[in-house]
Amino acid sequence: MTAVLVLQGPNLNLLGTREPTIYGRESLDEIHAGIAARAAELGLEVEFFQSNHEGALIDRLHRRDFDVSIVNAAGLTHTSVALRDALLAIERPFIEVHLSDPSTREPFRQVNFLHDIALESIVGQGSRGYHLALESIARRAGGGGG
Ligand code: DQA
Repeated sequence: MTAVLVLQGPNLNLLGTREPTIYGRESLDEIHAGIAARAAELGLEVEFFQSNHEGALIDRLHRRDFDVSIVNAAGLTHTSVALRDALLAIERPFIEVHLSDPSTREPFRQVNFLHDIALESIVGQGSRGYHLALESIARRAGGGGG
C-alpha cells in the first residue's frame, strides 16, 4: 500500500480561525479527517504531521518512512532553501498544495522554493486540493480512484 505523508507547515494549526476569508472555516483536524476518509477510499495509507518549526518538518522528512508526500509548506514555501534541500535529499516525490493561490497574492508569495521540484502544484482549491493530490497519487500508483 502506498504510504502518504501529509506535511503541514507553520500556522496551519490555526486553520478555522486564521484569516477565514482566505483559508476557509475548516479546522486542520476537520481537513485531516476528510483526507483520511478519501485516502481510505483510494486504498492509500496516510499520516499527518504539522509543525510551526522548520527543523521539525525537515526531521520528519528525514525519517523517509513514506513513499510520497503532500506538502503545504505554508510561509516556508517562500523562504526555505533548507526545506527544499530536504525534499530533494530524501528522494521521495511530493505534491505541493496550497489552500489559496499564492501567485495571485502579495509579491513576496510569488517566490516559491518548491514549485520546480514538485510533481505537481495544486493551488487555490481550498481543502479540496488535498483530495486532488491524493487522487493524483492513486492514479500514479495505478490504483485508479478517478
Ligand atoms: C498557504 C499559502 C502561503 O503563502 C501562506 O504563507 C500560508 C498558507 C496556503 O495554503 O494557501 O501559510 O500555504
